Amino acid sequence: MRRAIALAARGLGGTSPNPVVGCVILDPSGEVAGEGFHAYAGGPHAEVVALREAGERARGGTAYVTLEPCNHTGRTGPCSGALLEAGVARVVVAVSDPNPKAAGGAAVLRRHGVVVDEGVLAAEAEEVNAAWLTSVRARRPHVTWKFAATVDGRSAAEDGTSQWITSPEARADVHRLRAESDAVVAGIGTVLADDPRLTVRLTAGLTAGLTAGVPAPSRAAPVLRVVVDSGARTPAAARVLDGEAPTLVAVAEDAAVPAHLSPHAVRLPRVPGGIDLRALLAELHDRQVVSVLIEGGPTLAGAFLREGLVDRVVGYLAPALLGAGAAALGPAGVSTITEIHRLEFAEVTPVGPDLKLVLRPKSPVSSTPVPPHPASSHPVPPPPVSSTPGSPAPVPSESSGPQSPKES
Ligand SMILES: NC(=O)c1ccc[n+]([C@@H]2O[C@H](COP(=O)([O-])OP(=O)(O)OC[C@H]3O[C@@H](n4cnc5c(N)ncnc54)[C@H](OP(=O)(O)O)[C@@H]3O)[C@@H](O)[C@H]2O)c1
Repeated sequence: MRRAIALAARGLGGTSPNPVVGCVILDPSGEVAGEGFHAYAGGPHAEVVALREAGERARGGTAYVTLEPCNHTGRTGPCSGALLEAGVARVVVAVSDPNPKAAGGAAVLRRHGVVVDEGVLAAEAEEVNAAWLTSVRARRPHVTWKFAATVDGRSAAEDGTSQWITSPEARADVHRLRAESDAVVAGIGTVLADDPRLTVRLTAGLTAGLTAGVPAPSRAAPVLRVVVDSGARTPAAARVLDGEAPTLVAVAEDAAVPAHLSPHAVRLPRVPGGIDLRALLAELHDRQVVSVLIEGGPTLAGAFLREGLVDRVVGYLAPALLGAGAAALGPAGVSTITEIHRLEFAEVTPVGPDLKLVLRPKSPVSSTPVPPHPASSHPVPPPPVSSTPGSPAPVPSESSGPQSPKES
């Protein structure tokens, strides 16, 4: 199963809005006969790829699958049927499919005499599929907040200068994080201060030596850039509007939207502090955005934390001290120590001279689904209809939100 989970991870960034899934088939003697993973939405499912490789050796063998085999015909047939046809005797599943449309594969297999074991390495398999599981269970995208700082938590010097606190290796790793996300989100403060491009630039030079052995995510569509800008202040010359990737600018319902922002803008409710972030996530969910990377700045990151909308924190800490200057995180709803946001370390890895920290909230944050927001589907005319570079992602119709691979 651990190998199947590693295979599943190779689909990160490519399968959205589908889950990542890995599969390993053992022949009756316990030898590996086939391996596969779901690489892109609409492509063959992990089980099908692995069964193809295993051929006749699958008969009487065991399949290890990270997600319950689907029982649903979408763009591809049900995997439960493929496993039955191949004569697999036992299926070991890590995580049951929470999507009611696709679930039921385990029951069908059992009904046909296949031994099915569920829950094997479930926590590890949930981790690799955290984005998709969050989007199905909470009906909002999975949110990662990323920051870079000195070890004393500063993201800029006293005079505001901030480039570059962390190393080229850490910055390359950020591009990988972006490539694994469906959308990258920044506040208007960051756009005005830094004029970031927010595109994925996974060049060979940037990733050399850093990601050896792990293929770069292959994306079917560019990552959506999102600016949270209630006053519609994003300048026409801003790099986020350079057309290299689609861009969405979330503005308040009452904002006066200049012509250059009109094709990118979506109107969302205003709340104290800016845009209603739950409405923003609902809007992104409707656009089949499964995972979001918050790239700053401190004000916006603090607001997401205050709302309980951060599922994962990724920090890059440089071995440096500033003593004064902007903090990596702004006010996050903590006025007394009992309100502290407690996290757990999931990973601590050296990246070049820096440290990469991956943390998760101590208690899950996404148990309550984001309510559908009445104002969340009111784009500023002309509405975004094309996914060509420079335009926002299309708004899918009825079938919005993430899919099971079964629907792909
Ligand atoms: N170290 C890092 O990892 C990192 C990363 C990114 C940026 N930065 C630094 O951060 C600085 C900019 O940060 P910042 O805090 O000034 O700006 P920011 O967090 O990028 O943007 C904040 C602005 O977003 C808008 N906004 C809309 N809805 C909001 C909501 N619900 N909650 C909060 N904000 C909302 C508000 O402006 P409106 O009211 O006009 O909408 C708000 O002033 C730059 O100097 C940049 O270099 C550091």
